[in-house]
Amino acid sequence: MKLYNPGGERGSAMSYAALLEKIEILRSTLRWAARIERPDIEKLLRQANGLRDEVMRLSHQTRFVQALDAGAAIEPVDGLERRTAAEPLPVPAPADAPAGERRQALLARSFVFEGTFGDNPRLLDALEIAEKAAPTDLPVLVDGESGTGKELMAKVIHANGSRADKPYISVNCGAIPDSLLESELFGHRKGAFTGAANDRKGKFESAHKGTIFLDEIGELPLPGQVKLLRVLQSHEIQRVGSDETIAVDARIVAATNKNLRKLIEQGTFREDLFYRLSVIHVTLPPLRERRDEIPLLLAYYGDESAEALKRRPVALSPRLRDFLLQYAYPGNIRELRNLMYRLACLAGDTADLAHLPEDIRPGASTAAAAAPLPVAAVPNHASLAEAKRAASDEAERSCLERGLQETGGTVTELARRWDMNRSHLQILLKKHGLHSKDFRKGH
Ligand SMILES: Nc1ncnc2c1ncn2[C@@H]1O[C@H](COP(=O)(O)OP(=O)(O)OP(=O)(O)O)[C@@H](O)[C@H]1O
Ligand SMILES: [Mg+2]
Repeated sequence: MKLYNPGGERGSAMSYAALLEKIEILRSTLRWAARIERPDIEKLLRQANGLRDEVMRLSHQTRFVQALDAGAAIEPVDGLERRTAAEPLPVPAPADAPAGERRQALLARSFVFEGTFGDNPRLLDALEIAEKAAPTDLPVLVDGESGTGKELMAKVIHANGSRADKPYISVNCGAIPDSLLESELFGHRKGAFTGAANDRKGKFESAHKGTIFLDEIGELPLPGQVKLLRVLQSHEIQRVGSDETIAVDARIVAATNKNLRKLIEQGTFREDLFYRLSVIHVTLPPLRERRDEIPLLLAYYGDESAEALKRRPVALSPRLRDFLLQYAYPGNIRELRNLMYRLACLAGDTADLAHLPEDIRPGASTAAAAAPLPVAAVPNHASLAEAKRAASDEAERSCLERGLQETGGTVTELARRWDMNRSHLQILLKKHGLHSKDFRKGH
């Protein structure tokens, strides 16, 4: 068996052994305990969940190594030197490397990962901060680009704290109309405004004793910020239309993909609120800065999507795998996950470049496949996106034309050759106004 690193197999085997030992300890605790109190049950459940997460992670890691053993060559990953399947791979961190040890140590301390995986040092930094912050009631601000796992991190913080068995209430501050914000957060009394037919609890009251997750906090309008600040200072709320103050004990985790310091400079976010919310500040790195996790995520979401769509896992053609390893993922882990679901939906046994969404597809022609792929850039600029789309359309069209010429206009044969879903191919032909009969001999 080829390994990521010398001694990696031993590290992995030791991890399994350590896991089995932990499972055995859990089992005997349960078997011999005369009586288990509720807090202990919760602790045991958390440990069991942590173990389950770790088993999943290890099994994906092992399967990924086996897939490589089966002969799939890995082409160069952005920022990493060219390697072949015969050489050690830069992914993922082996169990006996420092990063692996850090994860093991978290696990040994019964840390609940809530499905978060990855051994990237910056992710582990964030998890270790979360571990320390979780048992306290200090507010935590999680920031990072879209799709980097901010909400997942909020759940991790909740799950590892003493409030884990209490409510976890999520509020999307960007999705509530200004007029309803106060009532949504703090509740209202019957008749407080038109439409307030009954007394209603707000999110803060619902989160009493638990955690309130204030997502997209950067979108909270200034009047809402003032009210939130007041609650943070007094730990009390007033329902809209009521003079009565109600004590609330909710731990606050806020998240944003905005640069709040910039918003402060622009005058759209209150500095005092920022400091209140960011006592603990966790920044999640974008996926392009933890590329070492991409292969593991591809394997994980490949399996997950196959299971969800009740099909066999899709194999990735080498050039598609290259692309997926090099791509910049402006939408981060969510984008990667969605891509894998798309491939599982559209592809036959093997997915290829043609199954990628048009706006990121690097021209599915055979010529393009032979040429080295450029390192994907983040298409922030609209005109760049348009240019990419136009180039991609052009390449797609010429590829389709060539394919139809080679198969004498037989779509079924072309679908077979490219291992594509026939109806997807038909859709592409229609999009480009191509008619298969125009390519038949004698036409
Ligand atoms: N480290 C990780 N391991 C496994 N899955 C992850 C990880 N980080 C994120 N995910 C997954 O990626 C997806 C996006 O995560 P999440 O919704 O937490 O991101 P977000 O930062 O809140 O995004 P947005 O800013 O768009 O709201 C989810 O499916 C989540 O489970
Ligand atoms: Mg989110």
